[in-house]
Amino acid sequence: MAFEYLKLSDFEIRDKRVLLRIDINSPMDPKTNRILDKSRIVAAKPSLEALRDSRVVVMAHQSRPGKGDFTSLEQHANLLKTVCSQPVRFIEDVMGPSAKMAINETGQGEVLVLDNVRFCAEENLEDTGEKLAKTNLVTRLSPLFDLYVNDAFASAHRSQASVVGFPHVLPSAAGLLLEKELTALNRLLGEPHRPSTYLLGGAKIEDKVPVIENILSTGKADHVLVGGNVGKVFLKAAGLKFNESDESWLAAATDSVDKARSMLGKYGNRIVMPTDFGASIEDKRSEVAVKDIAKSRGEVMDIGFETSKTFTDTVRQSKTVVASGPMGVFEQATFESGTRLVLEAMANSGAFTVIGGGHLAGYASMLGLANKFSHVSTAGGAMLSMLAGEKLPAITALQEASSRTINTRKTP
Ligand code: 3PG
Ligand code: MG
Repeated sequence: MAFEYLKLSDFEIRDKRVLLRIDINSPMDPKTNRILDKSRIVAAKPSLEALRDSRVVVMAHQSRPGKGDFTSLEQHANLLKTVCSQPVRFIEDVMGPSAKMAINETGQGEVLVLDNVRFCAEENLEDTGEKLAKTNLVTRLSPLFDLYVNDAFASAHRSQASVVGFPHVLPSAAGLLLEKELTALNRLLGEPHRPSTYLLGGAKIEDKVPVIENILSTGKADHVLVGGNVGKVFLKAAGLKFNESDESWLAAATDSVDKARSMLGKYGNRIVMPTDFGASIEDKRSEVAVKDIAKSRGEVMDIGFETSKTFTDTVRQSKTVVASGPMGVFEQATFESGTRLVLEAMANSGAFTVIGGGHLAGYASMLGLANKFSHVSTAGGAMLSMLAGEKLPAITALQEASSRTINTRKTP
């Protein structure tokens, strides 16, 4: 078996009480708190459909305590109604008496959506499955279910009660989205078709550096093309001088810069850095060679046209292409071309193409390209964590659960 965990098809699910963990954490308009992108909600459809003869209780989160978009899931539940055929009910409770009553009342062919599981303080701790199985959340709710299904791939890197606590005590299966995500990403980590190219950009450099280290050291990447702040980190490591604003955040990122320098030493021939930038000078876009950026006083906003050409040519010659993070500030019309051109080159190539991270996937869908990729991951952090070679707590928990499960399984 490819992955040693159980799937929905391994269980008799008709009329069973199923706790379904999904990740429908969605970007929200900061002013109105309306959901801006419902792709994670739509992605929950296949598992909900597969469970149409079960009694389904959905557990999910939105944001985290302290953030402006840490809201109830009522709106998410209303959107879920539009993607599945079952009647969907929402309860403004997670583990109190009204939630327990509503769970017990959920009939065959019905879906109940519990409120934001992170409203429970215990869910915001990360620990082992064994410890988190003792939380009130798990001890109160697990007796009400026959089966736990994890379809929350975007949360698979979190060792929280709803991810690792329930599978410690309930028979557990992977949902269909989680399986689809793992199949696509394992293909990248297995025997990718060559050449295999990674485009890594965006702002969060600490998440990208471990990915680059892993794919280069394991030989999974033939080319790593770096843009956005990731590109700046590598150029800094190669000795480039930037303008003051970039120099100041780069000075605080010495750990990443040092790692980039060491990678350039070991794998320099496989790392492709920008040769020019789209810079903002007097509120206009100018193409500036990287070596001239400090004296130009331009603010780096995008990869330049020459770099876009190098990157898109490499994409066109590749058989596997993975992208995470934008190449520049694509939200501004004059600086979107770097990100758009690489997405278009990927979408029009015959390669196995994977993109991930909310920003890039959202922009691909705005450009009308989303269905032209082999796989658009619903995850940001979880995908990067997997590409960095880390074990995902959700998967380990499902694997451990499979070795414990004896009940409820279909007899072969
Ligand atoms: C995400 O969007 O990153 C996932 O939903 C997990 O949320 P978190 O990063 O707040 O744990
Ligand atoms: Mg996150």
